[in-house]
Amino acid sequence: MSKVNVVLGTFFGDEGKGKIIDYLGEKADLAIRCTGGNNAGHTIEVNGVKYAFHLIPSSILNKNTIALIGNGVVIDPKVLIEEIESLKEKGINTDNLRISDKAHVIFPYHIAMDKLLEEMRGDKKIGTTARGIGPSYCDKFERCGIRMEDLYAKDFAEKVRDNVRRKNEIFKLHGKEELDAEKMIKDYQKYARYLKKYVVDSISLIHEYLDDDKNVICEGAQATLLDIDFGSYPFVTSSNPTIGGIITGSGLNPKNIGDVYGVLKAYSSRVGEGVFMTEQNNAIGDTIRELGHEYGTTTKRPRRCGWLDLVALKYAVRVNGLTHLAINHVDTIGKLDKIKVCTGYEHDGIVDDKFSLNEEYLKKCKPVYEEYLGNFGDISEIKNFDDLPENAKKYLNRIEEYVGIPIKFIGVGAKRENMIIK
Ligand code: GDP
Ligand code: IMO
Ligand code: MG
Repeated sequence: MSKVNVVLGTFFGDEGKGKIIDYLGEKADLAIRCTGGNNAGHTIEVNGVKYAFHLIPSSILNKNTIALIGNGVVIDPKVLIEEIESLKEKGINTDNLRISDKAHVIFPYHIAMDKLLEEMRGDKKIGTTARGIGPSYCDKFERCGIRMEDLYAKDFAEKVRDNVRRKNEIFKLHGKEELDAEKMIKDYQKYARYLKKYVVDSISLIHEYLDDDKNVICEGAQATLLDIDFGSYPFVTSSNPTIGGIITGSGLNPKNIGDVYGVLKAYSSRVGEGVFMTEQNNAIGDTIRELGHEYGTTTKRPRRCGWLDLVALKYAVRVNGLTHLAINHVDTIGKLDKIKVCTGYEHDGIVDDKFSLNEEYLKKCKPVYEEYLGNFGDISEIKNFDDLPENAKKYLNRIEEYVGIPIKFIGVGAKRENMIIK
């Protein structure tokens, strides 16, 4: 039976997971998205064309790969249809798309609730993507969620009416516009007809592929420090983007898991609120943002930028059982004269690598940096690690040495071919 290779984010998202998945996807028979929804934005550049995926596994670009949206994903069908149509316009065949019958569906009341909750949080807002992700996972756990298979059930309209009635009571209380259940039912019946041919029993599908010794990969969304349990709570997303979410979001079991690739950038970035130990809220952060084009794929917000934090990376290795690293934007960091990397936290008069997302603890901590030389020059066409400039090799070797797992992929540019396989 084959093992499943997994790609996960190690920091606050946008590490370039899409690019690594695109590479692994070339050989994959089946690629699965397991968690999150259209809060994700995975950008890939192939033959001069940019693709921004929000829900569909990026491996759909490979005509031989089945691209499955797993049960752990929350799906906004309107957005999904737009994504399918936009791929078709670019000449991409979407017949290989599959959608789990157990995936939960995002409705307009989830989006309205996401916005209302942010408004009510005031200066404690999370900075969500306002895509209805949190409220939709809340309904899943409250057991009033509507799944893909429910769109085709006899009691679908009744379920929507029930939910809308209850949500409208809250909207009314806060002076917000009430939603029209009947219009919603009609719209969603239309979406359901469009999507029907893609909906499958995903758990059987996955295990048939594994039994047949096929190549299966999982595309993580979001990242370790945005995890509802292991991230900087409450400034996190409402799912488990770590390894556990891959399992519960697909129907795989722990024994199925093979290599786990942790994706990071040669620096760090974050969108939305919350702690960011190595943030450079200054000219350095601004320079990194401009050099790396650090503006959100999904919400276009400017990303907060800072140095790479090896203390946090080690935590991601531990929590996810990472076996390899994939580091992107080495070209970007190499444009600076000097590069800093955080190798410890100073607290209570000592320096160590203790990582905890306890706010009180982090408030006491001060990142301790090592400095490396930049000026890598144009490295975008380099294909072998040995051909990288010494400064780049020193920086990358230090990362490997610190976390104790090997770097497998080195991103030296945004395009598919700008990658060194080590
Ligand atoms: P994801 O959410 O983890 O898939 O990452 P995003 O797509 O949101 O953000 C990563 C951004 O960095 C995208 O615009 C990519 O095209 C770009 N990118 C990825 N790897 C590299 C790299 O090695 N160098 C450069 N310059 N850009 C990269
Ligand atoms: P990818 O897969 C970066 C962040 C939001 C916000 C917090 C909660 O592209 O790496 P949500 O809408 O999920 O309730 O917002 O999580 N966030 C991401 N940040 N990349 C992502 O996905 C993200 N998905 C959610 O900005 O801070
Ligand atoms: Mg992204």
